[in-house]
Amino acid sequence: MIPTQPLNVLPRPALAGEFVPVDYFRKMERAEVCRGDRPLEVDLGCGDGSFLMEMAREFPERDFLGVERLLGRVRKVCKKATRRRLENARVLRLDSRYVVEWLLPEASVSRLHLLCPDPWPKLRHNRRRIVQQAFLEAVRSALVPGGEFLFMTDHEEYFHWAVAKVRDFGKFELLDWTEDSFFYPKTDFQIQWEAEGKSMFRLRCCNPLNEA
Ligand SMILES: C[S@@+](CC[C@H](N)C(=O)[O-])C[C@H]1O[C@@H](n2cnc3c(N)ncnc32)[C@H](O)[C@@H]1O
Repeated sequence: MIPTQPLNVLPRPALAGEFVPVDYFRKMERAEVCRGDRPLEVDLGCGDGSFLMEMAREFPERDFLGVERLLGRVRKVCKKATRRRLENARVLRLDSRYVVEWLLPEASVSRLHLLCPDPWPKLRHNRRRIVQQAFLEAVRSALVPGGEFLFMTDHEEYFHWAVAKVRDFGKFELLDWTEDSFFYPKTDFQIQWEAEGKSMFRLRCCNPLNEA
């Protein structure tokens, strides 16, 4: 007989600093993930969490949610956040697309970061890229008015693909983003790739403020 358990229970103890949704099978209530009026930023595929930690340290008045599918990486990021007493950084172990399309409440996220995602370079694998129309629609819905989507890659072809997808989508405004535009710590992969002489390509866009 299959044992039954409530939907909200993890098959392991939750880690300190881990974010566990009340229910994995419905959109979260705003109050589940947002603390009052504090802006929420989401880092999809947060990896070793170095970007997340730097941001949480620099902006104690904001909250940060890392999303990462690999449990080992989630453990490391939780440990870092706990050791550094960064109560404004939490990590959710789940698939990024699922989180954006099915869990994040409407108008809850002020900035959504997608940094150095897998480029799926082979043509037949392009459909596995996270930047697709349904994903962009879900990003738009999760962002607050004026909220931003920031995408960075070393893969030029994926960058142009993402720009074309955003243009086709048509509901975002493209914004300037040069390396020194604002405080933006380098990610772990960015550091590795730049050390190999690679360049980074940046795409920044926002949900218009005056949307009907
Ligand atoms: C190339 S690394 C980049 C990590 C970090 N953003 C950085 O720039 O250093 C991609 C990360 O995204 C995670 N990842 C890939 N696909 C994912 C998905 N669908 N959902 C959640 N995490 C994912 C990987 O496990 C990995 O940690």
